[in-house]
Amino acid sequence: MEIFWLSAIAIFTVGFLLMKKKRKNGCDLLPPGNLGQPLVGETIRFLQAFKRNKIDEFLRQRVMAYGPVFKTCLFGQPTVVMTGPAGNRFWLVNDGKLFHGNARGPHRAIIGRNSLLDKNGEEHRLVRAALMTFFSPDSLKKLVGKMDSAIRRHLDEYWDGKETVHAVHLMKFTAFSVTCDVLFNVQDKFQVEELCELFKVATDGIYSFPVRFPGSRLNRALKARSQIDRILSEMIMRRKNDLKSGGPSARQDLISALLSLTKKDGKVLSDQELKDNIVLLVIAGHETTAMTLALMCKLLAENPLCFDRIDKEAADIGVGEQLTWEDVQRMKYLWSVAQETLRFIPPISGIFRRATADIQYGRYTIPKGWAMYWSNYSTVYREDLFPEAHKFDPSRFQGSGGIRPYSFLPFGGGLRMCPGNEYAKLEIVITMHHLVKRYRWSAQIPDEPIIRNPLCVPAMGLPLKLTPVLNN
Ligand code: HEM
Repeated sequence: MEIFWLSAIAIFTVGFLLMKKKRKNGCDLLPPGNLGQPLVGETIRFLQAFKRNKIDEFLRQRVMAYGPVFKTCLFGQPTVVMTGPAGNRFWLVNDGKLFHGNARGPHRAIIGRNSLLDKNGEEHRLVRAALMTFFSPDSLKKLVGKMDSAIRRHLDEYWDGKETVHAVHLMKFTAFSVTCDVLFNVQDKFQVEELCELFKVATDGIYSFPVRFPGSRLNRALKARSQIDRILSEMIMRRKNDLKSGGPSARQDLISALLSLTKKDGKVLSDQELKDNIVLLVIAGHETTAMTLALMCKLLAENPLCFDRIDKEAADIGVGEQLTWEDVQRMKYLWSVAQETLRFIPPISGIFRRATADIQYGRYTIPKGWAMYWSNYSTVYREDLFPEAHKFDPSRFQGSGGIRPYSFLPFGGGLRMCPGNEYAKLEIVITMHHLVKRYRWSAQIPDEPIIRNPLCVPAMGLPLKLTPVLNN
């Protein structure tokens, strides 16, 4: 505990002195803004806004006071916030050149230090290239049938026959099962349930207070991570044996794709690198997709006309045994509902980086070592970019030319843009297509508020009343 506070005070003091030194030299103009109280800065206000899903208000107040780029102090670090399409563009073009990832604390301990998230330069490019190939349109075309079957099986087993469901909880499990099945070839029901529980405990720890003691969330999370590692070690060993014996390695999945990577020095990824990347992919891949789907369920319950349009569009799609790539391409209105959901309530509200050099942005200098923050919320509620921005209106994503460049980036952009974005699209539309074909639903809690925990979720877990559609 003491070590934590001493380190926090040291980080803040060094940051503060660096900033003062710059000011004295007089050559660099820092962005305007308020560094807030010593040490705490504006962290409490930021966290309050974050928890209530009001980051847009936190940003808007400061943009009005200081302009589109401003300084603040968050989590003990002087931080520059870049907003608007120009800020987004600068971020995308310079990510990985002028600033790098800033993973710290429990995040790093639980996902591990060897995943893509913690790598820069060549090491980052290598794993990323493998993911981009795995998630390329050609590969995804081959996954449609498999994903369709996995989703149907899951709905048969866990959704059918239920009168009420807690959509947040069930959707997380749905996305988790589909991830295990489609990406890692894990279908065994008991193993999926066990892994899902372990990942839930591990993920909880990512956003916990960064101190480990018996019974703490972080402690439970790290123990869960060790158990996950044991299961992954066995899976990796089996897969290596398969590859050696020319066995079922043809069942191309993400583990096989990562196993076949060779670094510049001729070495393959170590087991720890494999495990950390698998953990990253499971965590990054299922929660975001699940929350988008849960929020779509909520928004569709509140907007029955949108539901009817999806239902109409779905009527003559997927009349064969299995959905095809062509079927998915016809789900245009459904995808515009998904995009509007991602705009209306972006699952990832913002991203931190650290400046690796002094950065010139307009007439301002962002000192080396400062944190930088970028948020989707700086654009998605701007009336000049999205007229009637507080109205849920999927039609703004129909047709071409409606969305201004750099104003809608739910999957980030640049060097670290989400490599799973097309895969996520596939999973979202196929899952929602089946839900609409099978059920009608209504929210049991009218106007259930949205909180961030840390992704956006309906505060009470979104209980829904389900009614099956006969003869679906
Ligand atoms: C609706 C669903 C999703 C959303 C909104 C989303 C959003 C994002 C965003 C904004 C980033 C950029 C983070 C940054 O710049 O630091 C990101 C990165 C990432 N996402 Fe996603 N994501 C989604 C689904 C997925 C899926 C399905 C996968 C994989 C199965 C995935 C894997 C990753 C990985 C590995 C990264 C790190 C990339 C890197 O550091 O190079 N995501 N995601």
